[in-house]
Amino acid sequence: MSESFVCAERDPREAYRLLIGLIGPRPIGWISTISKAGVSNLAPYSFFNMFSMNPPILGFSAALNREASGKDSFRNVQETACFVHHVVTEDVIEVMNQSSAEYPPDVSEIEALGLTAVASDLVEAPRIQEAAVAIECRLFKTVSLGNQPGNGQLVLGEVLKIHFQRKEILGEDGLVREDQLRLLSRLGKTNYMRFGEVFAVPRPTV
Ligand SMILES: Cc1cc2nc3c(=O)[nH]c(=O)nc-3n(C[C@H](O)[C@H](O)[C@H](O)COP(=O)(O)O)c2cc1C
Repeated sequence: MSESFVCAERDPREAYRLLIGLIGPRPIGWISTISKAGVSNLAPYSFFNMFSMNPPILGFSAALNREASGKDSFRNVQETACFVHHVVTEDVIEVMNQSSAEYPPDVSEIEALGLTAVASDLVEAPRIQEAAVAIECRLFKTVSLGNQPGNGQLVLGEVLKIHFQRKEILGEDGLVREDQLRLLSRLGKTNYMRFGEVFAVPRPTV
């Protein structure tokens, strides 16, 4: 038996619920930003990925809320043109999840959750000491995918500096030790996926 789903005939939330189960496991962007007034912010975004090698570009998409206004992360990026992505590992799952709660714009999740903000070197947004890796990004471009509730506001940022905040993550070959990092990723529903079996496949030749 097969079944199909025509998006135009359904509520967008139904397609969303199916797609987050199908498009995955998704990396989680744990994004710190700062407003013009100096209030810092931290929130997770699993509509997140790397999109270009040169220049190195990371991006996340923040949905407009019920009142069709932008999330704090998006507004801050528009105000101060930067963000810091923190790599999400199993040990920060609770605090990362807690940072997704709807704190008011004048409350910093970083302070509210007792995390340690460290000044970044090249951008205004602070980085979080508790994360294994922090990546400073300068705004490259925003792309609005609509102005209705739920419509994504895509933020693309150029990677300026990568902080390995735990030494054991970098191997002697200068590359990432995945077994030490143990990335956490997002599936559908409220599910997550732990770092699991890894195997290499050599690139093909013609
Ligand atoms: C693991 C995880 C991934 C999330 N991914 C997204 C996402 O890709 N886009 C989005 O708009 N909200 C996402 N959310 C919800 C936001 O984190 C939440 O709306 C948060 O309050 C936004 O914070 P801000 O207004 O401070 O930016 C996610 C939540 C969790 C727990």
